[in-house]
Amino acid sequence: MLTIVDHALVQHKLSIMRDKATPTAQFRQLLREISQLLAYEVTRDLPLEAVAIETPMGPMDAPMVAGKKLALVSILRAGNGLLDGMLEVIPPARVGFVGLYRDEKTLEPVEYYLNLPDALDERLVIAVDPMLATGNSSVAAIDKLKQAGAKNIRFLCLLAAPEGIERMKSAHPDVPVYTASVDKQLNDNGYIVPGLGDAGDRMFGTK
Ligand code: URA
Repeated sequence: MLTIVDHALVQHKLSIMRDKATPTAQFRQLLREISQLLAYEVTRDLPLEAVAIETPMGPMDAPMVAGKKLALVSILRAGNGLLDGMLEVIPPARVGFVGLYRDEKTLEPVEYYLNLPDALDERLVIAVDPMLATGNSSVAAIDKLKQAGAKNIRFLCLLAAPEGIERMKSAHPDVPVYTASVDKQLNDNGYIVPGLGDAGDRMFGTK
């Protein structure tokens, strides 16, 4: 399942982020704001349960999010740019990290860091990476989450290429993808076009 978050504020903020004249500090601030709005969409249908509370006017069975606290998993390093804003909207979330690099010889993703919350099999796990480009690292990260026991996974990104969506769909058809935009294509270097450039470099001011 693919959900494109076409909310006007998301689209407006994304357009400013795409502009190459937008400086690092503003890019980071916009990413924080946009990630709050994306968090709102990716959690829209979480199951609720009625909990007995007392309002100042009397008793009420009030809807609250059911089940174990969800896990946000950042795919390093750019995924970290989405974390802070999401945690503002979902403060009790547990947080994990997956770090992968591409072996220059085999071109296969190799894990260099993995730190995940416990009981992943009982949580909704939301994996975050701003760019779903070739899909290679995102698919490999989801492989790791499944190996660690995760059963209920969603993937959240800011921008996606059609190639990445197809790759994710064929490797992990059970993982719904949420994005603010599906761009036209990948270029020969695996960058999304028109995209926004290198998300990590733009948010951390590197290069
Ligand atoms: N990663 C990025 O940061 N940008 C792209 O366009 C593709 C992958």
